[in-house]
Amino acid sequence: ADGVLADRYGRVARDLRVSLTDKCNLRCTYCMPAEGLPWLANPQLLTDDEIIRLVGVAVSRLGITEVRFTGGEPLIRPGLPGIVAAVAALTPRPRISLTTNGIGLARMAPALRAAGLDRVNVSLDTLDRDRFTALTRRDRLADVLAGLAGAAEAGLTPVKINSVLMRGTNDDEAPALLRFALAHGYELRFIEQMPLDAQHGWDRSTMVTADEILASLHAAFALTPDPSERGAAPAETWLVDGGPARVGVIASVTRPFCGDCDRTRLTADGQVRNCLFATEESDLRGALRDGADDEELARRWRAAMWAKRAGHGIDDPTFLQPARSMSAIGG
Ligand code: GTP
Ligand code: 5AD
Ligand code: SF4
Repeated sequence: ADGVLADRYGRVARDLRVSLTDKCNLRCTYCMPAEGLPWLANPQLLTDDEIIRLVGVAVSRLGITEVRFTGGEPLIRPGLPGIVAAVAALTPRPRISLTTNGIGLARMAPALRAAGLDRVNVSLDTLDRDRFTALTRRDRLADVLAGLAGAAEAGLTPVKINSVLMRGTNDDEAPALLRFALAHGYELRFIEQMPLDAQHGWDRSTMVTADEILASLHAAFALTPDPSERGAAPAETWLVDGGPARVGVIASVTRPFCGDCDRTRLTADGQVRNCLFATEESDLRGALRDGADDEELARRWRAAMWAKRAGHGIDDPTFLQPARSMSAIGG
């Protein structure tokens, strides 16, 4: 690498998250309105080859060792298996993971595994069909459960589950979700809701906090701190009933982990974001289409990361939610 993605606070990005599309086949109420969002137009989207080129620059020149594909919903991008295969062929080969809502995963898991995908994280907020249908506005719980099983069967392990709890909706379900995860060998993580919804309806008072989640788990399970190294992982983990099973909490709001952040992001339209909460982006698509060479793309990426702020600033009185919502940034 001819220069890693460092920032002025001494952090180095090793983990690249690539959004493959801003579209989704669910409509989770905490994410987007029922009618969806004004999607990016096709000419704005990076092509498969452009994505592969930029990931190649990140891996070969910028020290990226982990690549995660996200959305929107990444499984709806037709080129996904080919993109995974091309990234798996890079030297040095990065680890490759996927964050998905699980719909279609049962069918695609074997091909993705064969292409070089290492593991998946699947979003699942409730095990109750009616609640799932109300929460995602689609009656697809069975597809998600099949997706989880298919991923495990194909060896995309550890299979992790992401659950966002919402007061009055599914905040009573933490123990049931953990029992389900333990029974199937999935690793469950609860996520504090962040102010990244398209509707700008986030409210601190309705967010279910890490402390509340842990209290409801403690009532049903013995949790002890996980002795393994956390590193830059967003999830704090606990051993369940002595281990080896674990449960995690991603407490972005009440216990921020920005000081250890090792992430850089690429949106589906080719913009580098140095933070989930960045208010500025850096246009790599324009540079690439204007004929920039790899060194120039690397130089721009490094400059974008150098400008990364110390933290997300959610607690600052001047905090402004970024213009793009979670589904368009890519988690
Ligand atoms: P693992 O490597 O499996 O731990 O993945 P991950 O937890 O980093 O990725 P995933 O896509 O499953 O994200 C789970 C939750 O963590 C989502 O709500 C993400 O938005 C959140 N998350 C991921 N990266 C960051 C980050 O850099 N900052 C904050 N605040 N949250 C993040
Ligand atoms: N805050 C926290 N997590 C969110 N997710 C979507 N929107 C939010 C939000 N506002 C979760 C999804 C998915 C993961 C990538 O991010 O449920 O599991
Ligand atoms: Fe789709 Fe994820 Fe948003 Fe749900 S949270 S609508 S699965 S992008």
